[in-house]
Amino acid sequence: LRAKMVIDKDFQIARVDNRIYGSFIEHLGRAVYGGIYEPEHPLANEQGFRKDVIELVKELQVPIIRYPGGNMVSAYNWEDGVGPKSERPKRLELAWRTIEDNQVGTNEFMDWGKAVGADVMMAVNLGTRGIDAARNLVEYCNHPSGSYYSDLRRKHGYEQPHRIKTWCLGNEMDGPWQVGHKTAEEYGRLAVETAKAMRLVDSSIELVSCGSSNTMMPTFPEWEATTLTHTYDAVDFVSLHQYHGNAENDSPNFLAKSMETDHFIRTIISTCDYIKAKKRSKKTMFLSFDEWNVWYHSNESDTKIDPWSVAPPQLEDVYNFEDALLVGSMLITFLKYADRVKMACLAQLVNVIAPIMTENNGRSWKQTIFYPYMHTSVFGRGIALQTVNSSPKYDSKDYTDVPYLDSTAVFNDEEESVTVFAVNRHLEESLILNADVRSFEGYRIVEHIVLENDGDLKAVNTADHEAVKPHHQGQSKLDEGMLEVVLPKASWNVIRLA
Ligand code: AHR
Repeated sequence: LRAKMVIDKDFQIARVDNRIYGSFIEHLGRAVYGGIYEPEHPLANEQGFRKDVIELVKELQVPIIRYPGGNMVSAYNWEDGVGPKSERPKRLELAWRTIEDNQVGTNEFMDWGKAVGADVMMAVNLGTRGIDAARNLVEYCNHPSGSYYSDLRRKHGYEQPHRIKTWCLGNEMDGPWQVGHKTAEEYGRLAVETAKAMRLVDSSIELVSCGSSNTMMPTFPEWEATTLTHTYDAVDFVSLHQYHGNAENDSPNFLAKSMETDHFIRTIISTCDYIKAKKRSKKTMFLSFDEWNVWYHSNESDTKIDPWSVAPPQLEDVYNFEDALLVGSMLITFLKYADRVKMACLAQLVNVIAPIMTENNGRSWKQTIFYPYMHTSVFGRGIALQTVNSSPKYDSKDYTDVPYLDSTAVFNDEEESVTVFAVNRHLEESLILNADVRSFEGYRIVEHIVLENDGDLKAVNTADHEAVKPHHQGQSKLDEGMLEVVLPKASWNVIRLA
């Protein structure tokens, strides 16, 4: 089977905003307690954060991390998580029905963000609270001094403001499961007024308006049209959330699900541009795909968790090899829309539907999905190229004309290198990819990294055994500007030229 690509330096989509390689930590399950924070662990630092986890996050070079939720933020009082730890209240956390003892809050998380080298994307509670709590939090975090909340932060030991740039106006407010769920009209009005107050405190912030929780919501995409009618001028981004699963065990169909992501992005771009036209606006709305991943493995076991436990193992999907392929395809999809998708957050980062897992008081380890995420984050910086692809195709249960080849390329103009990311969706046959790279004169192949697993799509990693990990023995050759690459059956590939 053969596929073709033309990759030209001059066919540019846009400079990649590194924040598309963002992630997410919610106060949920063992993400915070027992994940990033475990004071009793032998590898904990003086603040109680696990150093082994910090190192793994650094390997991923995560530029921005969304916090503190997720569903959790919609009933969260940020004031519970600041000040002396001994005085912080224990609360019933309503979204996930656990006990939250608030030993980690805004200031600690900002310190952890620094330790891993990431900015924080902070979400405000527009479920049970609103304008007042949001503007106070901006004042607490970003105002230098001389006001009640900025001085409170200083009293709490943080002399310098955190200067948080990116803020989410609530979370999934279209979802009936959300505490304080709202209609599009209600949310649009609240969001625009909250945005106004937050910007009056700090005019330099960026804001994200809540989009639909997924494409199956009955209000999609009318939710975006109505809410943006209110928020268009006041925000910089609209959010998208999407999780895929393979409960039906139909792998060809599962691997095609990034086409659903593509469709979602196109619909939201169209909706934003429709509002832009209606408003005779000159401003272009950007997309923040701030929750995405595979999520279904843990659904069943999550129903058995007792309510009101402390840091239970919720949403602990153990990812298999095919999940890594779909994660790779979703990242490729974001790169294809680099002109509009400026942020994206792999949900989540540690233990909860995550690339990094920990054992309580034990080891930390990498899930299968760690690898495509790391490869794109590390090598996918620069300018996203508009490649021209042609590939044999297949039909699956829900999709027609699914190309076996899913691929794109990023040109790093500073380092003078180009990286091709490619998934072969064919489960039985290799794909020979012939790519015309003649515009990259004098370039050579640096490496061809492959994540493959001899067709065992269900293999998983554990703390003891890393069954799925990349190798560097990919077969590729470059001759007079023509690249020939063997993409093994069911594989993720990273071909680097410089
Ligand atoms: O990431 C897990 C949950 O998925 C988040 O809390 C919520 O926003 C989404 O429904």
